[in-house]
Amino acid sequence: MSGTVEEALLTRRSCRAFRADPVPRAQVERLLALAARSASNSNCQPWQVHVLTGAAKRALTEDLLRAHDEGARSAGEFAYQPGADQWPEPFRGRRRRFGDGLYREALGIAPGDTAGRTGHHRRNYDFFGAPVGLVLTVSRLPLQGALVDAGVFLQGLMLAARGAGLHTCAQASLLDYHPVLRRHLRVPGDHVIVCGVALGHADEDHRLNDHRTPREPVTSFASFYDDGR
Ligand SMILES: Cc1cc2nc3c(=O)[nH]c(=O)nc-3n(C[C@H](O)[C@H](O)[C@H](O)COP(=O)(O)O)c2cc1C
Repeated sequence: MSGTVEEALLTRRSCRAFRADPVPRAQVERLLALAARSASNSNCQPWQVHVLTGAAKRALTEDLLRAHDEGARSAGEFAYQPGADQWPEPFRGRRRRFGDGLYREALGIAPGDTAGRTGHHRRNYDFFGAPVGLVLTVSRLPLQGALVDAGVFLQGLMLAARGAGLHTCAQASLLDYHPVLRRHLRVPGDHVIVCGVALGHADEDHRLNDHRTPREPVTSFASFYDDGR
């Protein structure tokens, strides 16, 4: 057993630049077996994972990039998030700070540089150069609970990857082109696509991998109730 849970939690971050070194299939299977130890409502385990490497991943990337460049964005399969200008506070401010940190500070892309931003965003569709692209789906019968279970599974997978010295990036951006994903993958009709996950070895020399995100303090989101109340 390698590392501690605390270490995995503290070193997990979204990696957006990977080395090409492959991850053996047996290792991916091990990570998925670990993630499958995640809790789920009544142990329903409503998830499925589609694992792409090699030519299959390249073919998907090619089609995703074509759809992206043609502006063939599709409405979501489910209401994943509001439009960019419809987020309420405090989420709007946190999103803006995240975007500033990633685009301006880490990548040096000016706020008005749409081409620069698009150039980076496109890299989602080759899984940021990771050798493994995963697509997570869950049963929509029923959806809300399954999405909670999917989140638990996703975190389990990301932490298991850290335990193995690997890095990940969850990718909701793939959802914009879900018909392309469905053409390439055997997604059951009663499943929704939750997100992609890039998996591999971080390219530690890449400046994007210096990017870190802050967190709100515990007192801002936790309420404690004790004998005095
Ligand atoms: C469900 C989900 C979807 C995400 N989608 C994307 C994505 O499409 N592209 C991307 O670069 N990051 C994506 N992220 C990463 C978030 O931006 C990141 O988790 C957040 O900014 C916190 O940073 P950290 O993961 O480095 O701690 C996603 C994260 C989650 C949990």
